[in-house]
Amino acid sequence: MSETRIETEALTPSRAGIDHAAALLRAGQLVAFPTETVYGLGADARNGAAVAAIYATKGRPSFNPLIAHVADVAAAQKLVQWNDWAEAMAAAFWPGPLTLVLPLREGHDVSPLVTAGLQTLAVRVPAKACARDLLAAVDGPVAAPSANPSGRISPTTAEHVRVGLGGKIAAILDDGPCAVGVESTILGLAGDMPVLLRPGGLAAEDIRSVLGHPVADRDAMDPLTAPGQLLSHYAPNASVRLNATEYVPGEVSLGFGPGIFDLNLSEHGDLAEAAANLFGHLHALDARGMPIAVAPVPEVGLGVAINDRLRRAAAPR
Ligand code: TXA
Ligand code: MG
Repeated sequence: MSETRIETEALTPSRAGIDHAAALLRAGQLVAFPTETVYGLGADARNGAAVAAIYATKGRPSFNPLIAHVADVAAAQKLVQWNDWAEAMAAAFWPGPLTLVLPLREGHDVSPLVTAGLQTLAVRVPAKACARDLLAAVDGPVAAPSANPSGRISPTTAEHVRVGLGGKIAAILDDGPCAVGVESTILGLAGDMPVLLRPGGLAAEDIRSVLGHPVADRDAMDPLTAPGQLLSHYAPNASVRLNATEYVPGEVSLGFGPGIFDLNLSEHGDLAEAAANLFGHLHALDARGMPIAVAPVPEVGLGVAINDRLRRAAAPR
C-alpha cells in the first residue's frame, strides 16, 4: 500500500544467497523465488502480516487462497490430512508441477489468510533445486502466488519479476528461466472424488493414469455442486451486517480502529494487521452462534480485498 520504494536485493542460488533469502522470509519479508513453473512471491505462511503483504504488494483486489510450498512430503504431512490418493500422487509427481488440496490438519501453524479461511490447504513440493533448497533452509511452509502485479502475466524470469515488483519486495532469487512456464496443475483431494481444479504444468492424463480413479473436471461440473466452487469461498454460518456504527444486543461485534468490540481487526486501524486477523476473527465470532456486526473498513489498499471478503460473507445465501 505504501508507495515507499525499498531496495530489492538480487540474490544468486549460492549457499549464501539461499540462506539470506531464507533469513529474509523468516523475518517476515517478501522474497521472489523461481520454481519449475513460474516465479513465486514468497512469504512465511505462518506469519499473517507477511501473507497480508503479498496481497498489498500484488495489489490483489480479493483474497484467493494461496499455495503453501514445502520441501518434501513429510513437511506437507504436518499441515494436511494425508490420504491414499495424496500418497499415490506425491509418489508419482512430487517434486513437480502438481498442487494437492487436502483438509487442514489439526495443530497446523498456517495463517488463516493463506487458506482465505477455508478448512483445506493447497500444498506443493516444487521440483526446482533452488526452490527446494530455499524451502529446506526456511524449514517451514512458504505461501507463494505468482510474482506479478495483479492482472499481469506470470513471470518466468527474474527480470520479469523485477519489472513488476522491483522496489516493492526485499529480494529476488535468480536462478534463470522457469522450465515449465505455466502454473502447477491443481488437484482437489478433500472430497469424495478427485477434482481437477486448475489445468497446469502436469497433464490431466498423467494424473488419471496413476490415480486409477475417475477425476472430475471442475469446469464440466454444475457450478452449484462443483467442489471447486464450494471450496473457493469461506462463508460464516452467522449472518453478517456490514458498516455497523452501533451494535444491538444479540450481535457480536467485529471492530476496526479504536472502540469496544468483541474482537477487533486492528485497534490502530492498520489494514495489514486487519487482513492478517480477518479470517481468524470471523471464525472465532462465528463460533459464538450470533449475528456478526462489522465496523466500516476503508476502501483503500488492502481494505479493498478485506471489504470484498466481508461483502461475500454478508451476501444472502
Ligand atoms: O505453479 C504454481 O502453482 C505457482 C508457483 C509459484 O508455485 N503458484 C500459483 O499460485 O500459481 P496462485 O496463487 O497464482 O494460484 C493458486 C491457486 C488459486 O487459483 C487458488 O484459488 C487455488 O490455487 N487454491 C489455493 N488453495 C485452495 C484451496 N484450499 N481450495 C481450492 N483452491 C485453492
Ligand atoms: Mg497467478
